[in-house]
Amino acid sequence: MEARERAYAPYSGFAVGAALEAESGEVYVGCNVENASYGLTQCAERVALGCAVAAGKREFAALALASAGMATPCGACRQALAEFSPQMEIIIADLEGRNRSFRLAELLPRRFGGGNLPCRRGQGPDPHGAPGG
Ligand code: THU
Repeated sequence: MEARERAYAPYSGFAVGAALEAESGEVYVGCNVENASYGLTQCAERVALGCAVAAGKREFAALALASAGMATPCGACRQALAEFSPQMEIIIADLEGRNRSFRLAELLPRRFGGGNLPCRRGQGPDPHGAPGG
């Protein structure tokens, strides 16, 4: 909710805040960052993910998302998060604090992952998207 207050969303007026908890317990936040060239807009979830990865984290327990109307993560963000922890919990909340939770794998079934790529085949167990999802 606090990160949402820092959203830069002058074009859509739709502010989003994200908090991503690493398996180690640290929390990294993000907000959406829009641009006059609309397609450059960064979603709150991927801003938080980039901060966490830059801090050395690659395993995540949960992501909380705050927005009006309790939005779920967009498809691009689901894919970006699943690269690291497809089983993470996704908690969505509205501005009154009502919330629901899901597993990321429920929101992105049969995902495309590293295991689909020839360069990753035959290198032992791949937790991130073996062929067949
Ligand atoms: N947005 C997010 O930050 N996360 C999502 O998962 C969906 C959309 C932002 C992008 C844009 O700034 C605004 O919400 C309206 O699409």
